[in-house]
Amino acid sequence: MKRLILGIETSCDDTSVAIVDEHGTIYSSVVVAQHEIHNNFGGVYPEFASRAHIANIIPAIDEALSQSNIPIEDIEAIGVTRGPGLVGSLLVGLNTAIALGVSWNKKVIGINHLRGHLRSAELEGGEIVYPALILLVSGGHTFLAHMADKNTISLLGTTRDDSIGEAYDKVGRMIGLGYPAGRAMDDLAAKGPGTIPFPRPLIHQGLEFSLSGLKSAVKRYIDNNPDYDQQDVASSFVEAVIDIMVKKCTKAIKKVECKSLVMVGGVAASPLLREEAKKICEKFDLNLCLPPVKWSTDNAAMIALATFDYIDNEQYIKPFPALRIPLESY
Ligand code: KG4
Ligand code: ZN
Repeated sequence: MKRLILGIETSCDDTSVAIVDEHGTIYSSVVVAQHEIHNNFGGVYPEFASRAHIANIIPAIDEALSQSNIPIEDIEAIGVTRGPGLVGSLLVGLNTAIALGVSWNKKVIGINHLRGHLRSAELEGGEIVYPALILLVSGGHTFLAHMADKNTISLLGTTRDDSIGEAYDKVGRMIGLGYPAGRAMDDLAAKGPGTIPFPRPLIHQGLEFSLSGLKSAVKRYIDNNPDYDQQDVASSFVEAVIDIMVKKCTKAIKKVECKSLVMVGGVAASPLLREEAKKICEKFDLNLCLPPVKWSTDNAAMIALATFDYIDNEQYIKPFPALRIPLESY
């Protein structure tokens, strides 16, 4: 008999519900995006995000159940993002999951959002070959980690300031793009000449990242060149990001044993970054593990898949003891 989890993800600005089995097959997935609400503010407005989650969560659960045609009795447990994320948004998902757990008599398991992103590479037939090097690049986080096996994750380097997704969004806003800007930035970058020599902070130093200096350099350039070429700024920025990513991954690959490179998180939807990841893997003869583009950005399917890890092995509950952010407390 199939094992099925109902996943709920409300950590930021998307209300998402999915039903997934332990092999990563997705039976239904509903993502209600809030981009139109937040676009005017140039970023996520937390109070509006929580309110939209309240309005959307029950209809999204109803739709996920009816899309899959799976009766509630067949669901083993509910997995819900417990953090990191916006507190008000998380509370909507958590409280809904707890209420449903009580009324349906199901176990409710709080899932670390980053653990969900890691598992996104195994949705719909993907398989991580261990030991693996993980590059997580999202709107909230950026780090490199080593996974000796499914249970053993060690952080190699995180960002000292902005995440890569945040830098994409902030630079996008500077050049007049809506929120989130990642995709539009990539589209512009693909056409641009990339002639501006923006800095690559910390590029030769260790495995930590720093993006705020790059972001400030873009701001200074725009201030000093009011007639700037939007495509050139976007492409020069993305080239700097790619350069940083390639150097850091190369350094990590030489330092730790790995058979695969896994790139996850919203920015892993970028065709330009995916292409670079492919080149790195060809150069070092590694397996490339990428989530399908659709499952790179936040979704409940990855949370549902990660739930199996928590059920099967309690030790997965504290996956990143070395991270600066005390994730264990979420
Ligand atoms: O993982 P995610 O959905 O949310 C967090 O956990 O933070 O990542 C969102 C980030 C945003 O910064 C967004 O601009 C970026 O992912 N993003 C992209 C692309 N699609 C989304 N960045 C670059 N290229 C894309 N195609
Ligand atoms: Zn995320």
